Amino acid sequence: MVIEIIGVPMDLGANRRGTDMGPSAIRYAGLSKALRKMELEVIDRGNIEIPVPESIKTENGNLHFLAEISKACEKLGNVVGGILDRENFPLILGGDHSIAIGSIMGVAQKIPDIGLIWFDAHGDFNTLATSETGNIHGMSLAAACGRGCSELVGIGGFAPKIKEKKMVIIGVRDLDPEEKEKLKRSQVTVYSMKKIDELGIAKVVEEAIRIAGRDGSGVHVSFDMDVVDPSIASGVGTPVTGGLNYREAHLALELIAEANILKSLEMVEVNPIEDKGGNSTAKLAVELITSALGKRVF
Ligand code: ARG
Ligand code: MN
Ligand code: MN
Ligand code: MN
Repeated sequence: MVIEIIGVPMDLGANRRGTDMGPSAIRYAGLSKALRKMELEVIDRGNIEIPVPESIKTENGNLHFLAEISKACEKLGNVVGGILDRENFPLILGGDHSIAIGSIMGVAQKIPDIGLIWFDAHGDFNTLATSETGNIHGMSLAAACGRGCSELVGIGGFAPKIKEKKMVIIGVRDLDPEEKEKLKRSQVTVYSMKKIDELGIAKVVEEAIRIAGRDGSGVHVSFDMDVVDPSIASGVGTPVTGGLNYREAHLALELIAEANILKSLEMVEVNPIEDKGGNSTAKLAVELITSALGKRVF
């Protein structure tokens, strides 16, 4: 199995520029080198082309950049599908979290019963009706569930991408009021930071693996770097205090690696412009990727 890296310099789904530089920042932090050191074979497929916001003349005022994001996600989905066809491992570098619609389209097309573990400070469970910002990176999980406008939900020609029963969110601590109600009524399993404090991250991840990985089809991990506490991951677009600490973040991914269920991985929302410590967030992203792909101390 070869690790195939695909970058998605997307910032149209977020309200600020900078996540478009995420793939660059993660590569610059030494991703390929770190993976080759683990004796993994790596092919970097470069980036999906994403339009620059300033170059877009007219945009959808309610769902910002809907047409551009849908198109990019479809493209990404096809690339991810191709990687899986070659029986390789897709490693997707964001970009804001709107790209998850594309990643999940690609994985779910090839592995229909795939589960999903979504690490995030946020729920990304908004639709146009509940969003306070109109930013599509706050709607991508909902879209994967088949909730929201048809342009997003229908990407790749099928919906929902994954059954809610096989979706787990870990690390949540910032939900919009209506988003929260919708999430409560859904079948998605949510482990808030409070739950992690109470049970410990190991227990939470063990349960998540059981729920998302049930029946053995494997899982896609969508890792929003803002799930990590901003004190060690400052370079994100929408930081929220009270997140995972360094060891909790690593342990979560080490346990997923150990369970041997990971089919694809995306790391999103790295925003090097906001980083307070010399590309430290991208460096952490590289470390976390190595943990997810099986790096062990002992
Ligand atoms: N709930 C807010 C919104 O919908 C923030 C979403 C943040 N999402 C993210 N992927 N960082 O706009
Ligand atoms: Mn997110
Ligand atoms: Mn987030
Ligand atoms: Mn909000």
